[in-house]
Amino acid sequence: MSRTYCIKTYGCQMNSHESEKLSGILSSRGYDETDNIDIADIVLLNTCCIRESAETHILGNLGIIKKAKEKRPSMIVGVCGCMTQQNGAAEKLKKRCPFIDIIFGTHNLHMLSEYLDSAEKGKKVIDIWDSEGQIEEGLPIKRIGKISALVNIMYGCDNFCSYCIVPYVRGRERSRNPQNIISDVKNLIDGGYREITLLGQNVNSYSCDGVDFAELLNRLSDLEGNYWIKFLTSHPKDLSEKVISTIAQKEHLAHFIHLPIQSGSDRILQLMNRKYSAKEYLDKIEMVKSYLPDVGLSCDIMVGFPTETEEDFLQTLDVVEKVGYSNLYSFIYSQRKGTPADKMTQVPIEIKKERIDRLIKKQFVIANKIAEDSIGKIYTVLCDGKESDKFIGKTGSDKKVAFTGSNARLGEFTRVRITEAHNSKLIGIEVQ
Ligand code: 5AD
Ligand code: SF4
Repeated sequence: MSRTYCIKTYGCQMNSHESEKLSGILSSRGYDETDNIDIADIVLLNTCCIRESAETHILGNLGIIKKAKEKRPSMIVGVCGCMTQQNGAAEKLKKRCPFIDIIFGTHNLHMLSEYLDSAEKGKKVIDIWDSEGQIEEGLPIKRIGKISALVNIMYGCDNFCSYCIVPYVRGRERSRNPQNIISDVKNLIDGGYREITLLGQNVNSYSCDGVDFAELLNRLSDLEGNYWIKFLTSHPKDLSEKVISTIAQKEHLAHFIHLPIQSGSDRILQLMNRKYSAKEYLDKIEMVKSYLPDVGLSCDIMVGFPTETEEDFLQTLDVVEKVGYSNLYSFIYSQRKGTPADKMTQVPIEIKKERIDRLIKKQFVIANKIAEDSIGKIYTVLCDGKESDKFIGKTGSDKKVAFTGSNARLGEFTRVRITEAHNSKLIGIEVQ
């Protein structure tokens, strides 16, 4: 009987992609994947610590895994990723959950095979590297999908926003060699992938061998094939006009920008160390819209940052109204140990909850309006699923569409006319 592994992934796309690398390593050791921890020989938790809620959730799941391991002591349990990379976290985890066999961090996931060699001999491993080493190229990757693929272009973050744990757990910014990225993307396109999402905490500061982010996009979009390229995440202070004009000129670069503002108040933005004002952000949005009138915009916003007043919050609502995001990811600020904001005067949880409710309600109305405005328009849609009698796909501006049609095929582009909008969900019909 084959040996199996189960990976539980928490957090962002960066983590999802790293789990694809962990999967690649496990597959090349001859393990098969399962989503059932009750039969898995190896259970790996690839963790997130961006907010306290993520950590609470993971600790709860470790309780379930503990019970599974009591029934089957031969099962190997590993925990890796952002949560274990925090200062002192691995030792604490070892004390709290002595049943864990392997604990490793974000800088050494490529070592998984060596750690398993030890664990299979009954030797527990804790190995957290305190700084990033060289970028590991050529790791095996077992991808989840066959249509959309994630590709790292850089790692780490140097921005040190005052609320954020990421720079502490992911290390300093480093960019991959452009040739390696281009060759990965080419192989994916040749292998039938149609949507490539480039990943980095701050893709706009990509820089390697004299190639900046705009030039990387330019070179990638010269590849032959039928595909589009998206990217995550942009920092407003670094998103350049050169990047946007490149997107406007090249057919393979999708018209979608995720541009987190975090707050609409200049006072809060300064406390957050974001290095732009609300006006500078809005000017950038205007620049983007002038080049790409059909752009889809999405955003991250945090409510209840330390000292945030009603007035500050109203300024955030004002930005949301002015920009018109088709998608908004809203978060309640969560204290993170070791970050400057942890020591600032905190906002009571009831106020945070009340504000996030108001933000979500406002966004609901805006997203519905944007969806309604799409009725009658024709979009190029990448078909990537099927639900009962309808195909599911997304536009280059990252809007989800359910549609009917007789020529649509999974993994292919087609043209769809929007006929209805149910809340923010678009319904359409394929056109020839
Ligand atoms: N609390 C709440 N949300 C946070 N984010 C980052 N750090 C925190 C925190 N301490 C949010 C930001 C970021 C997104 C990925 O997570 O909005 O853009
Ligand atoms: Fe965190 Fe700011 Fe870096 Fe984004 S840019 S990962 S919010 S420190």
